[in-house]
Amino acid sequence: MRPSLFLPHLLSLAGYRVSAFPTNILETILKQSRENVHGGVSQALSQLIFAKKQAPDTVAPFDAKKQYVSTQGKHAFVPPNNSDKRGPCPGLNAMANHGYIPRNGIATIHEIVSGSMDVFGMGADLATFLAIYGAVFDGDLTSFSIGGPPPSLLDLGNLLGGPQGLSGSHNKYEGDASPVYGDLYQYGNNLPQVSQFTSLYELGRANGDSVDLGVLEKYRVQRFEQSVANNPYFFYAPFSGIIVNTGAYIFIYRFMANKSAENPEGLLGGETLKSFFAVTGDYPHFTVKPGHERIPDNWYKRHPVDYYTIPYLTADGLAVALRYPQFLSVGGNTGTTNSFVGVDPADLTNGVYNATSLLKGNNAFCFGMQLVPQMAPDLLSGLYNDITNALSTLTSAVDNATSGLGCPQLSGINKKKLTKFPGYTKLNPNGIY
Ligand code: HEM
Ligand SMILES: *[C@@H]1O[C@H](CO)[C@@H](O)[C@H](O)[C@H]1NC(C)=O
Ligand SMILES: *[C@@H]1O[C@H](CO)[C@@H](O)[C@H](O)[C@H]1NC(C)=O
Ligand SMILES: *[C@@H]1O[C@H](CO)[C@@H](O)[C@H](O)[C@H]1NC(C)=O
Ligand SMILES: *[C@@H]1O[C@H](CO)[C@@H](O)[C@H](O)[C@H]1NC(C)=O
Repeated sequence: MRPSLFLPHLLSLAGYRVSAFPTNILETILKQSRENVHGGVSQALSQLIFAKKQAPDTVAPFDAKKQYVSTQGKHAFVPPNNSDKRGPCPGLNAMANHGYIPRNGIATIHEIVSGSMDVFGMGADLATFLAIYGAVFDGDLTSFSIGGPPPSLLDLGNLLGGPQGLSGSHNKYEGDASPVYGDLYQYGNNLPQVSQFTSLYELGRANGDSVDLGVLEKYRVQRFEQSVANNPYFFYAPFSGIIVNTGAYIFIYRFMANKSAENPEGLLGGETLKSFFAVTGDYPHFTVKPGHERIPDNWYKRHPVDYYTIPYLTADGLAVALRYPQFLSVGGNTGTTNSFVGVDPADLTNGVYNATSLLKGNNAFCFGMQLVPQMAPDLLSGLYNDITNALSTLTSAVDNATSGLGCPQLSGINKKKLTKFPGYTKLNPNGIY
């Protein structure tokens, strides 16, 4: 690894002003990269990433008026009734429970994008991609259900069955080894698990009641090992693994943390975490009510000039992968627990990516995203009579989301490498390998 090639790029991507950092951290990075200390570069790099928290001059000053999120009046919390849809995304569930997207849980791409920006300060680029992906795989190309299958509100014209919503998107969108929601083939459902919530809460508690990026990284390593040990069909899929699993952890801090003048990047304490994950009760006697995710009163989102965009996620994701490259490893268990095999990215991509190049620049994010249109034809042919529109919308969305990242060109993948994973073949019973 030659970190000098990617470090400056990475830092500028993340919007860091190198001069704003204590020189001792920079010196450590340079020294360790010269000496090629094992793991040293990534260790120092993630110190630098975390250091941004202690460098408020790099963050827009807190602005209570612009960052306050109303939970009053038309945005009051109303729990869902039996026909309202709620699913595997705590952010979307909370948005629906406060009327930032339709309370019935069925929303258009536009509604999802504006809700995510208004409530959490998600960048338009990231929200647009996530919403289009949902509409293509789980909806009717323009809308989707954030939970189970919707009533016949959507246009069924070109759809083979009914759209399944986010809850029915296992290994297309919803995936294994998530933070709080359980693995489908381990529990028989993909609902939030109190045991998983409690483990995360405890790590935050041991960190001074603060769930930060370091806590989430540690917890993610545990969860990955748990899925390997408990879910015979564990599949770390190209998109729902590499991209969505990365987001699922990082979003918890980046979006749920409460911003303030003292903590402009946010502080995520146990009570706020409980509220966003629909958990009540006092530690350790927690109860979870799926679908009751709630925005806390007096909670403040990201500053409008600091919305969380794709380059930001790319940099955060890479910081974790440099220390734990397993998070870039498409693969899974092969039908029994503890049988995890990773696919060599060079085999999968005919050499366009390899284990070394994945850790450079934006390649990790490029890799996860470029696998989307490669996997899509098999998946979409199970959903649409004619996949033309769905595939071109998706391809255009991937192109837009990766434009400007300088991604290598991927022309095809070797899908045979995935057939040893039941998580893949179950997903794709009619796949042509
Ligand atoms: C913009 C549209 C969005 C879509 C389509 C979307 C979709 C999803 C899906 C399908 C999952 C399940 C992934 C898994 O199995 O791990 C998920 C998980 C998650 N999402 Fe979202 N999401 C969106 C926005 C947001 C926002 C704005 C937040 C802000 C808090 C958020 C926070 C999370 C978290 C924390 C998880 C992991 C839940 C857990 O297992 O603990 N998402 N999302
Ligand atoms: C449930 O709430 C929705 C609004 O989210 C409303 O349109 C619907 O009529 C309600 N259904 C029942 C059975 O109360
Ligand atoms: C967020 O932080 C502000 C400032 O410290 C505080 O007044 C408010 O109560 C906090 N909100 C939550 C939900 O903790
Ligand atoms: C990995 O990919 C890079 C960039 O394409 C290439 O320069 C390098 O030789 C490859 N390494 C291996 C071990 O194949
Ligand atoms: C991609 O960007 C172009 C140019 O802004 C836009 O016309 C197109 O609709 C976008 N594609 C998608 C799927 O959002």
